[in-house]
Amino acid sequence: MSCTVFGFAAQAAASERLARALGVPHRAVASRSFPDGESLVQVEPSSSTALLYCSLDHPNDKLIEILLAAAALRDNGAAQVVLVAPYLAYMRQDTVFHAGEAVSQRVIGKVLAEHFDGLLTLDPHLHRTHSLAAIMPGIEAVAVSAAPVLAAALDKRDDPLLVGPDGEAHQWVERIAGPLQLEFVLGTKRRAGDRSVDVAIPDAERAKGRRVVIVDDLISSGGTLLAAARLMREAGARNIEVLATHCLAAEADLAELREAGITPIRATDSVAGPVGTLPIAGLLAEEIRRRRWSL
Ligand code: R5P
Repeated sequence: MSCTVFGFAAQAAASERLARALGVPHRAVASRSFPDGESLVQVEPSSSTALLYCSLDHPNDKLIEILLAAAALRDNGAAQVVLVAPYLAYMRQDTVFHAGEAVSQRVIGKVLAEHFDGLLTLDPHLHRTHSLAAIMPGIEAVAVSAAPVLAAALDKRDDPLLVGPDGEAHQWVERIAGPLQLEFVLGTKRRAGDRSVDVAIPDAERAKGRRVVIVDDLISSGGTLLAAARLMREAGARNIEVLATHCLAAEADLAELREAGITPIRATDSVAGPVGTLPIAGLLAEEIRRRRWSL
């Protein structure tokens, strides 16, 4: 076998699921921190292709660890190292919003392109940048959509109304609602701060008496969902649910969403947690095979 999935202990369940879906071996990447906070990683000998699995929520330490692991894998037999990062961090800062800020997306994209031969991720936040190729020059950087997984998880009873809280959510809402011939509405969003957003939904009255499912790529602070749910509630929605690709929200933020009557909240298992349960290993494995990375 010339392909192996390598995974860190904290995400072993997910990286092992991917190895099983591909039918290839799984090896642990050992990592630890020195007293001063520096990281050390250690890998076992690699096959010619190493698929390094690391979802990049809480990314700062993980970014260092994956760069070290990529180098160690090359030193230990890998001719090709592909990063499988279901959640790809630092994609939201894709422009200078306030004078003097770094464009993090460009910086991190360039670093990853310098250290990996390929990258696979799920619904990266590319709202103003149209493709990963633009920020990861020279490598095969691939984004797959979680829409099929979200569509399969959707409870289709009672003709639910799907809601995209902003224009960017159009791609997911349309891909889920279209084949099922479900109605959807889209909002517009203005962000005032990290946790403060204003959402407007022009056709909100269609929610009256209905089951509403808000669909988004990311739950971070939960502010977007709270604002959209408030409008849906005011419009007379019977109950409000959420389907999202990634859930980064802290437990306190999830509790606030539940207190606001938003339930169930479901997301893919790109990020482990109480909400992230919809399995993506099959979707990732399919794309890895298509790219011939698993040969
Ligand atoms: C923004 O464009 C994204 O699609 C999400 O709506 C956003 O990142 C969610 O963030 P939060 O949960 O903090 O409102």
